[in-house]
Amino acid sequence: MPKHIVRLITLIAAALVVALVAPHLLTVKSFYRFGHYRANAVPEIAAREPVYQTPRYCYGCHTARRAQWSAGSHKTVICEVCHGPAQGHPQNGKLPIPSDTVRLCTQCHEAMPGRPHTQPQIQVAEHSGGQQCTVCHNPHSPKITAAVAKVSGDAAAGKQQASACASCHGTEGISPNDTWPNLAAQNPAYLARILAAYKSGDQTDPIMTPLAQALSDSEVQNLAAYFGSLNCKATPHGKAVGDVAAGAAVAKNCTVCHGEGGRGANPAWPKLAAQKPGYLMNALKAFRGGLRKDPMMAGVTRGLSDADIANLGAYYAAQTCQTTK
Ligand code: HEC
Ligand code: HEC
Ligand code: HEC
Ligand code: HEC
Ligand code: HEC
Ligand code: HEC
Repeated sequence: MPKHIVRLITLIAAALVVALVAPHLLTVKSFYRFGHYRANAVPEIAAREPVYQTPRYCYGCHTARRAQWSAGSHKTVICEVCHGPAQGHPQNGKLPIPSDTVRLCTQCHEAMPGRPHTQPQIQVAEHSGGQQCTVCHNPHSPKITAAVAKVSGDAAAGKQQASACASCHGTEGISPNDTWPNLAAQNPAYLARILAAYKSGDQTDPIMTPLAQALSDSEVQNLAAYFGSLNCKATPHGKAVGDVAAGAAVAKNCTVCHGEGGRGANPAWPKLAAQKPGYLMNALKAFRGGLRKDPMMAGVTRGLSDADIANLGAYYAAQTCQTTK
């Protein structure tokens, strides 16, 4: 037989086989059972495991996440928006943890015309400097709240007590030493909180811990009010180790919390402008090493090199500071 006839017969035979076998493989069981209705039966669809499960499904197993999430401002953003459909989880494996949070979070938060203002918006480049959003935000409870405790102390009484501090922090709150911090014009709410932290043991320092433990709560308030009210002075800084211009580039990532030039953004958080460079470097290394604990600073310092830290120290030490009004 000629070759082309063989090919033709093979082709016809193959088509026949497909025509006979395919209906058996592709037809769903309910085909023809419901008259002319040729798709899956409603009971069959209802019996399938849904692709999306709603947060209620996650509650039983991820209790801690759920508690955090339902207490925060993301309780309207359901888990599966960020973690993908739960179908088959946990039997068939873990759900993905989003790694590119810039991409994920900007889908809802990037400022754009027409986006309803009930959904908080940011200018991404200025806000995060390209860092992952999770460096500063907890995705399950993203609002960064700084409880600003009211400082009710009496600055005049604080002045009396401050004589005990003058040897290290200076009579005017400007320290004589490169590694001891200036206190003049620091935010009073921050000073009160950090002194209370030394007192309670949440933060430890061989020098400051015993000194703070000897202070009463009202003395802490008075001292915070006093040092906060002092005039700040740009300190004549000697030779800082780092490079100011290189520090300025890294410091863009710090502005949301510490303000432009370290002059303060939120009264609960420390100002950094004109602080002693050696102290700044020690503090940053302590955060990075986990010796000083703060969830936000831990995230921020994780990626800093020793050179970055020296440059940041030089940059903030060189900034002009502002007296608290
Ligand atoms: C029946 C219990 C159960 C339910 C329901 C459940 N999970 Fe899980 N989930 C697990 C277990 C077990 C793991 C694996 C934990 C491990 O190995 O560290 C896991 C892992 C995960 C992980 C990855 C954690 C990691 O460390 O890699 C994510 C994300 C996650 N679940 C999200 C969800 C979400 C969102 C829901 C609801 C839609 C949900 N889970 C419902 C039990 C459950
Ligand atoms: C806005 C997005 C978003 C929502 C909504 C969300 N998550 Fe997550 N989740 C994340 C991100 C991002 C991470 C990674 C956290 C990190 O890198 O610090 C994560 C981490 C996790 C992990 C792993 C934690 C770990 O440290 O190993 C679990 C489990 C989890 N989420 C469960 C849930 C559950 C349950 C819900 C709903 C109640 C939920 N998530 C809602 C974004 C989200
Ligand atoms: C599906 C949209 C969506 C995604 C994705 C999303 N968010 Fe949100 N987010 C919201 C909505 C809506 C609110 C406001 C909730 C409210 O106030 O009721 C909110 C609130 C916030 C707030 C609190 C603002 C305030 O002042 O209360 C922050 C911060 C935030 N989101 C950061 C993030 C981060 C970081 C991510 C990524 C891990 C993220 N969001 C992902 C929709 C989203
Ligand atoms: C360097 C730390 C940092 C990073 C990184 C960061 N944020 Fe923020 N974000 C903050 C701080 C601090 C606030 C509170 C600022 C304030 O009170 O105005 C805030 C506030 C917000 C708000 C609330 C704004 C409002 O008007 O209420 C949203 C939304 C938000 N961030 C989303 C994001 C998203 C999305 C990303 C990732 C692209 C991100 N953030 C990365 C520190 C950061
Ligand atoms: C013997 C020297 C010495 C004396 C006296 C002293 N301090 Fe300190 N103080 C330090 C040192 C060193 C640090 C930095 C500790 C560190 O690196 O964690 C510090 C840190 C602080 C801080 C934290 C500053 C910041 O920016 O976080 C405050 C607030 C403070 N001292 C207040 C006081 C007060 C109030 C007194 C008087 C009651 C006092 N100190 C007496 C040496 C001293
Ligand atoms: C999301 C907010 C946030 C961001 C971003 C941030 N910080 Fe902080 N920083 C804080 C808070 C809160 C504290 C107070 C921590 C404490 O109480 O121990 C702090 C403390 C510090 C201190 C100690 C100050 C003192 O007087 O003891 C230094 C230094 C510092 N930050 C430097 C930086 C630098 C440099 C960057 C940028 C690379 C940065 N921070 C970014 C929130 C932030």
